[in-house]
Amino acid sequence: MKVRKLVTSIILLLSGLTPICSLSTPDQISQLLALNPNIKNGEEIYPLCASCHMATGWGKKDGSFPVIASQHPHVLIKQMIDIREKNRENPTMYPFTDPDSIGGIQSLVDVTAYISTLAENPEPGKGNGRQLVLGAAIYRKHCSQCHGDKGEGNNAAFSPRLKGQHYAYLLRQISWIRAGYRKNSSPVMVTEVKQLSEKELDAVADYLSRL
Ligand code: HEC
Ligand code: HEC
Repeated sequence: MKVRKLVTSIILLLSGLTPICSLSTPDQISQLLALNPNIKNGEEIYPLCASCHMATGWGKKDGSFPVIASQHPHVLIKQMIDIREKNRENPTMYPFTDPDSIGGIQSLVDVTAYISTLAENPEPGKGNGRQLVLGAAIYRKHCSQCHGDKGEGNNAAFSPRLKGQHYAYLLRQISWIRAGYRKNSSPVMVTEVKQLSEKELDAVADYLSRL
C-alpha cells in the first residue's frame, strides 16, 4: 500500500514537470492558464450550458448530464479543449465547445471560472449502497493518490474532483476509461482501473457518490 502510494507519487512528481503531457494541445492550455478570468462575463455565457447542466451546474441525477459545479477550473478547461479537439468523445457537447458558440479563449476561461464558483451538489444520484465497504477499500488502494482522500481532486494536476458527482455518470466514465473509450484518460489511471471487476467499479462509483 505504502509502496504503491510512493510509486504513484513519484510518477505524479515526474508528470508534474509536464502535467499536461497527455494533451493534444498543451500550448492552448498554457495560453488559457495565463489569462485572468472575468467571472461576470462567465455568468453571462453560462445560460448556454444551463439547458443541460442546469442553472445550478448540478446536472441530472440519472447521470445523463454531469455535475460541473465546483469542479476545478483547470479540469474544466482541459475537458472543454479535449472535447473540442475530439480527444474526448462527447458529440452532444461538440457545438457548445466551438468558438463560434461560446466565443474565443477568454470566454472559455471566463465560463469555466464561473462554473467553478457554483456550490457543490449536496444530493447527487446514488447507487444501491450495498457495497460501500468494498468501494471505500478500492478507492483508497487505486484512486485516492490522485483524486484525494475525500474525492476533492487536484487543480494543478488536472485531476477531477469526484465528490458530489452522480453515481450513474461516474460508473459510465470509469467503464469507458477501462474500455479505452475515453481517450484523454491518464495512462496510470487506466492501469489501475483495468484491475477492477464490474462489481468493483460499481462499488467505487457508489462510494464516491456518497462522499
Ligand atoms: C446539449 C446538452 C449540453 C450542453 C448545452 C452543454 N453540455 Fe456539457 N456535457 C453534456 C454531456 C452529455 C456531458 C457528458 C458526456 C459524457 O458522458 O462523457 C457533458 C460534459 C461536460 C463536461 C465534462 C464534465 C466532467 O466531469 O468531465 C464539461 C466541463 C462540460 N460539459 C461543460 C459544459 C459547458 C461549459 C457548457 C456550456 C458552454 C456545456 N457543457 C454545455 C451535455 C451538454
Ligand atoms: C495517476 C492518477 C490517477 C489515478 C490513480 C486515478 N485517476 Fe481518475 N483521473 C485522473 C485524471 C488526471 C483524470 C482526468 C483525465 C482527463 O483528462 O480526462 C481522471 C478522471 C477520472 C474520472 C472522470 C471524471 C469526470 O469528471 O469526468 C473518473 C470517474 C475517475 N477518474 C475515477 C477514478 C477511479 C475510480 C480511480 C481508481 C480506480 C481513479 N480515477 C484513479 C487521475 C487518476
